[in-house]
Amino acid sequence: MVGSAVCRLVQSTYPEVELVLRPRSELDLCNPEQVERFFRENRPDAVIFAAAKVGGIVANASFPVEFLSENVRMAIHAIESAYRNGVTRFLFLGSTCIYPKHAPQPLAEPSLLSSPLESTNEAYALAKIVGLKLCQYYRKQFGVIYHSAMPTNLYGPGDNYHPEYSHVIPGLLRRIHEAKMHSLPAVTLWGTGTPRREFLYVDDLAKALLHLICLDSPPDWINVGTGKEIAILELAKMIAKTVGFKGDFNLDTSKPDGTPLKRTDPSLVFSTGWRPQTELEEGLRRTYEDFLHRIEHDNLRGK
Ligand SMILES: NC(=O)c1ccc[n+]([C@@H]2O[C@H](COP(=O)([O-])OP(=O)(O)OC[C@H]3O[C@@H](n4cnc5c(N)ncnc54)[C@H](OP(=O)(O)O)[C@@H]3O)[C@@H](O)[C@H]2O)c1
Repeated sequence: MVGSAVCRLVQSTYPEVELVLRPRSELDLCNPEQVERFFRENRPDAVIFAAAKVGGIVANASFPVEFLSENVRMAIHAIESAYRNGVTRFLFLGSTCIYPKHAPQPLAEPSLLSSPLESTNEAYALAKIVGLKLCQYYRKQFGVIYHSAMPTNLYGPGDNYHPEYSHVIPGLLRRIHEAKMHSLPAVTLWGTGTPRREFLYVDDLAKALLHLICLDSPPDWINVGTGKEIAILELAKMIAKTVGFKGDFNLDTSKPDGTPLKRTDPSLVFSTGWRPQTELEEGLRRTYEDFLHRIEHDNLRGK
């Protein structure tokens, strides 16, 4: 999703930039020989590293070995090969789940490594911290500008709609769309619907990434978020309005809620001149349009 958004933005706004792209079938980032060959043959000027094993809470909790091992290996192979082959600019993508479970809200950059992580996504967060730190150490030891961006929860065109392993917005959007198609009277939400979460439209993140990779001296890691959050029930109602679902929402309060509030402090990235531009309602409308288009063309991810 993020890689495609960056490509859309580069192609529409910076036609002078040559994109070097490879499908996963030709470049498995867990394979060090393939990664080394890619950098040796292509020698890009800059890298935006948006590849990762990604998923929602259920996927993270079910496959911690893959989430740690694959994400660490991809990051290490790419960062090391990039450096060996003369890449001076590398932007690594982490996530705000790198911050400790009980870090003060809103989540700010100095909270990194200040106390234990949330156990459900510990493996993924550890891998992201390794990538962030390796970039920071390369910069410190060798003077190359290797740095990281920590996006909040993302959504938008090209998301993964897997019925069990997807993130909050694609998961809800799919269930609400299916409820509408089957004329169901209600959709059940886990928990009380009161936890508040923050969401960023992926095209806004793409703009932030291109902005950051052009800064002369970016911070070693920086949050990319909106600083605004919404309760899950309110979000579900907004998605229902977008989709045209007229039914109700039932709350299954026997299921856990998770942290009551998760929000980033985006003041550092705002101070560099970037701001999100897409309101949630508009972002959801564009996302649903893309979802319907993909269903029509039989290329929905995570079917
Ligand atoms: N989505 C979010 O809410 C969110 C929030 C914060 C941070 N992030 C971060 O943003 C970045 C992009 O996430 P996304 O949402 O765009 O995820 P995505 O749509 O799943 O994109 C990740 C891409 O990485 C590829 N990939 C995985 N393993 C690979 C391997 N071994 N070799 C080559 N390619 C591989 C995947 O290929 P396949 O499609 O073949 O699996 C996929 O195309 C990730 O670093 C993620 O941690 C995402």
